[in-house]
Amino acid sequence: MADHFAGGMRAVQPHRLERNDPCWCGSVKKYKQCHMREDEKIRAFELEGHIVPDRGMRKTKAQIDGIRESGKINAAVLDHVAQHIRAGMSTLEIDQLVEEKTREFGAVPAPLGYEGFPKSVCTSVNDQVCHGIPSSDVILREGDIVNVDASTIYKGYFSDSSRTFLIGQVSPEKERLVRVAKECMEAGIAQVKPWQFLGDMADAVNAHAKENGYSIVVDIGGHGVGLEFHEEPFVSYVAPKGTEMLMVPGMVFTIEPMVNMGSEEICIDDSNGWTIYTEDGMPSAQWEVTVAVTEDGCEILAW
Ligand code: MF3
Ligand code: CO
Repeated sequence: MADHFAGGMRAVQPHRLERNDPCWCGSVKKYKQCHMREDEKIRAFELEGHIVPDRGMRKTKAQIDGIRESGKINAAVLDHVAQHIRAGMSTLEIDQLVEEKTREFGAVPAPLGYEGFPKSVCTSVNDQVCHGIPSSDVILREGDIVNVDASTIYKGYFSDSSRTFLIGQVSPEKERLVRVAKECMEAGIAQVKPWQFLGDMADAVNAHAKENGYSIVVDIGGHGVGLEFHEEPFVSYVAPKGTEMLMVPGMVFTIEPMVNMGSEEICIDDSNGWTIYTEDGMPSAQWEVTVAVTEDGCEILAW
């Protein structure tokens, strides 16, 4: 019942509801006792010229419960990686850890086969920004930093989170990059509140990176998530305050800034069509959570 409306692009055109009609969200409550006031508030922002979410981007309680269950598995998978990751291991072994652990929970790794992606997780080392493909040829060495980006499908619900791991003793410069990248994500999380804008969150992320002399990747961002792997909206981490989409209770999206030590410029590995590198060859770090906008702030659904 709660699942009848689609996420993102597949959202149906809303029709006008009367006060005593059943709410569109599937709650079986009357519209006036459910989403009516929130809808009116959103409409007022829209009339002021702001970008607002459609109904499909506002998840129901049942859907958020499902995404939370998926997110717990995703976090447990990354905990498992954290326990085993070490110098000398190949990134293919990380893929095997993720694959095994995810299946143990009765879940499916979302990256596998996604638009042709060949593995179950993304592993991005040093100057790889994201979408690194696990390989037996890539051996982790002391001093490397590696982002492990896991995504889980459980009972049809998607979650997405990533962490950057330090392999053995890492240079103070790289260690600082990884720490600041995590702080950027946290600064973004602190700005997730209903009736503010995604640009408010982005500006907090970007400001923290800049203060530390780093740059944020512009061309790749976050996304809505939950009923599909990648839903609308696109989530920028460089947009100015007061811009981008209004945050409304029920929206679920990722906060996953890619923080570069040097320039924001990136390039793609043409040989595999996936792996993104920094153009200047300097290191990049990333942390990612899936969050839900609540009535009074946010809940982290996957970490
Ligand atoms: N997990 C990545 C993200 O944060 C998406 C990877 S797409 C894949 O959005 F196909 F490479 F897995
Ligand atoms: Co993501």
